[in-house]
Amino acid sequence: MTRAEVFRDGVPCATGRLPLLGHLIPLLTHPVPFLQSLADYGPVVRIHLWRRPVHVFTTPELVHRLLVEDAAKTEKGFVFDKARGLLGNGLFLSEGAFHLRQRRLVQPAFHSDSIRRYAALTTRQAASAVSRWKPGRPVPITTQMHALTRDIVMEALFATRLNDAQKHRIDQAVPVVLTGFVQRALYPSPLLEKLPLPSNRRFDSAVRELRTVVDDVVAQALPCRNPDSTVLNLLLTARDEETGLAMEPAQVRDEAVSLLLAGTETVATTLSWLFHELARHRELQDELSEEVRAIAADGSVSWSDLPRLERTGHALSETLRLHTPNWILMRRTVAPLDCAEARLPPGTEILFSPAALHRSPRLHPDPLRFDPGRWQRPGDHTSRKLFLPFGAGQHKCVGQSFAWAEILLIAAVVLARWRLTPATPTPVRESATSATLRPRGPQLIVDPR
Ligand code: HEM
Repeated sequence: MTRAEVFRDGVPCATGRLPLLGHLIPLLTHPVPFLQSLADYGPVVRIHLWRRPVHVFTTPELVHRLLVEDAAKTEKGFVFDKARGLLGNGLFLSEGAFHLRQRRLVQPAFHSDSIRRYAALTTRQAASAVSRWKPGRPVPITTQMHALTRDIVMEALFATRLNDAQKHRIDQAVPVVLTGFVQRALYPSPLLEKLPLPSNRRFDSAVRELRTVVDDVVAQALPCRNPDSTVLNLLLTARDEETGLAMEPAQVRDEAVSLLLAGTETVATTLSWLFHELARHRELQDELSEEVRAIAADGSVSWSDLPRLERTGHALSETLRLHTPNWILMRRTVAPLDCAEARLPPGTEILFSPAALHRSPRLHPDPLRFDPGRWQRPGDHTSRKLFLPFGAGQHKCVGQSFAWAEILLIAAVVLARWRLTPATPTPVRESATSATLRPRGPQLIVDPR
């Protein structure tokens, strides 16, 4: 264990704390390595962001207990508070009985019958998107995957096709709000959010834009209630058990915005990383292409074929391990919480990093190597406690099965038709300025197979 100042509650404080700034600089300049290094202090360590103390949980056991056994003693933390202006009381931020009710309400849209329906439209949309790629030309893969996943979520969950103006407004707004949440959480005082700074104006206007587009989508859906259980349909037709009243329009909008944001950013980021890794591992890419083409020559595999994409599934697991989209997650105690040697009082901010845990050499041999083969070897790494890209407990990702199917289906379409090569040998870097760990690096050159 690294030597550190130990507080009265028994929790060590990470060294390198600067006056005023606290540990902000290492967190901003090399976030995941910094969060990983905190495991040297023990299972719980305190850092300061400005003067705000934050407790970082560094072991999978503690994180699992926090999310599952101790879930009732927590709520979402200060980073999520900044999202409330946009996501309101949607699934991502709601708690307790209300959260449970809303979650039960949308759940049928994520059952296997629904996902089977989404699979067909996912393959169709993916085939149409990649048919526009030009042989030998670079493809901005991250931008393209964002556009594709946006259209899939819209059609699958909301039975809607956006017009070009709406697409443009969403594409402009999403990166601004995702970066803005993180920036605002790191402001030294909430008063800064009220100042007429250009970044604040951009953030407020992006929030307004997203809400307006989603309001339009909801309004269009009202006159013709679709008999299929799209999320929108489930929300619009839900009635309160006691009062018999329909859901408030603002709540319908909050749920829809939450699903749009949660269902696009993470999936697009994972797909981009998967394709970047496969472009760098040509032999593996060819093997996966063979696996897909043995089922369907043009990559149009069906939902029931997915279990046969075994090696592609391993590559996806490895991508979610090495490039976990959610690099930090938060909770805040609402009741005393015992952890390791300490008792954390209500109001304690807790942070944990699935990305740091997934790259820990204590938990995964040779953790920085992209090695899908590790998912074939027996070991603990696949256990629910060590592998948590989708979280755990009552807030566990509601879209997990949809995401898994969607990514495999899109990968199948791409791998069957195109060979991917990095446009330059420049290594792909990761950017943690947003809510997810996005790739920043060369575009990919595509050639027909
Ligand atoms: C690779 C893709 C995805 C990853 C890695 C991912 C990851 C996560 C994680 C880690 C959480 C838990 C957050 C927490 O505990 O604070 C979560 C929650 C959530 N995810 Fe996902 N997600 C993905 C795809 C999706 C998709 C496709 C949808 C929907 C279309 C979705 C909708 C949600 C929602 C609504 C929640 C909040 C659930 C609740 O609190 O009850 N996600 N996701």
